[in-house]
Amino acid sequence: MSDVLKHIEELGVVPVVAIDTVDHALPLADALLAGGLPVVEITFRTQAAAEVIRTLSRERPDLIVGAGTVLSSETIQTAVDAGARFAVAPGFNPRVVQAARELNLPFVPGIATPSDIEAALECGLRLLKFFPAEALGGIKLLSALSAPYRHTGVRFMPTGGISPTNLDGYLALDTVAAVGGTWIAKKEDMARGNWNEITDRCREACARAHATRNSKR
Ligand code: 3PG
Repeated sequence: MSDVLKHIEELGVVPVVAIDTVDHALPLADALLAGGLPVVEITFRTQAAAEVIRTLSRERPDLIVGAGTVLSSETIQTAVDAGARFAVAPGFNPRVVQAARELNLPFVPGIATPSDIEAALECGLRLLKFFPAEALGGIKLLSALSAPYRHTGVRFMPTGGISPTNLDGYLALDTVAAVGGTWIAKKEDMARGNWNEITDRCREACARAHATRNSKR
């Protein structure tokens, strides 16, 4: 597994952010870094995504910046050109997997079924986004889904409906490498400039990830 993905596993939490304006990029980065969470997934759901990734990669080298909602090989290229160090997708698309491989970009595709997992394993991928986690059946489903694949070394990043109320249960699963979600940096907080609240949510999430992991050891 790439060093970037290993680092994400160590952190245990990935803020997923749909950001509307590049003006929010640096305050967001500083809020995350102050909260002890030096990673962010900027989703390609807004026009600003590529420019935000470019700005963060240039101005905040300590932050691991990734691209989210990557649905095409063209977007993989755009993400790499902007400086993204990893990419995430909601689904499993072999063409996107191939594009990421050709550009040497660590890639975390989305999976929801055993067949998806097997397709991803066949491509040599070991970190997979379990999406949309809560709507699919949450911890119970992921736990059952893990059983036949645990021995392969596959790990999951559940995303979709994760919040402080269910974070601990996911992180307690041995096949969960990290959780992702938008709860840390919400659009309305960025619009209002509530950067301190974002920092507080990072601190809380990191503390929970740390505590859950230590209790597993
Ligand atoms: C994603 O893109 O990974 C999800 O939309 C995040 O889901 P959430 O908004 O429920 O955290």
